[in-house]
Amino acid sequence: MNIILIGFMGSGKTTIARMICKKYGMRFVDTDKLIEKREHLTVKEIFDKKGENYFRELERQVIDSELMFCEGCVIATGGGMPCFFDNLEKLKSLGCVIFLNAPFNVIVERIKDSDKRPLFGEINEVEKLYDKRRKCYKKAHFTVSVGESKEEVLLKIEKLIFKGNNENIYKIFGEWYKG
Ligand code: S3P
Repeated sequence: MNIILIGFMGSGKTTIARMICKKYGMRFVDTDKLIEKREHLTVKEIFDKKGENYFRELERQVIDSELMFCEGCVIATGGGMPCFFDNLEKLKSLGCVIFLNAPFNVIVERIKDSDKRPLFGEINEVEKLYDKRRKCYKKAHFTVSVGESKEEVLLKIEKLIFKGNNENIYKIFGEWYKG
């Protein structure tokens, strides 16, 4: 069983995934990094040289060829991954999918100075994308609101998964959760 974090760019997927891994000895997986390794290019270079459709195809392939074999991993996904093809359904079959729900202003503040994100451009366009994507993200198994400290976010996820007593979680995690 795995924990899969989804959400918009800058919602903290990588940071929180690393924190869970460190604390619980789980394996960290970052889908953007898997793609960069495969292509020997950064995500930005892939977008610039080959275009977004090519990148989306790579995301799809990474699910089928690599994520499908993950066990006991915390997977930080690229912000668009769950919103293309049947990727979200596949991710949900791999484990507990958690949407890190960060307000738009928090996201902008976090990533406005980064030049690594090809889709972060004109602010009105980014906000439109944010609104559109949220409809998809909300189909995760769980939503955790983000805005306070990363320790708070970790605590919420811990309560949800490791210490909670929630019938839904039991259904998703089955025997693994019992232990
Ligand atoms: C993308 C988000 C990025 C990366 C690529 C596309 C998106 O990942 O996959 O730039 O479509 O939202 P992060 O969410 O880690 O920034």
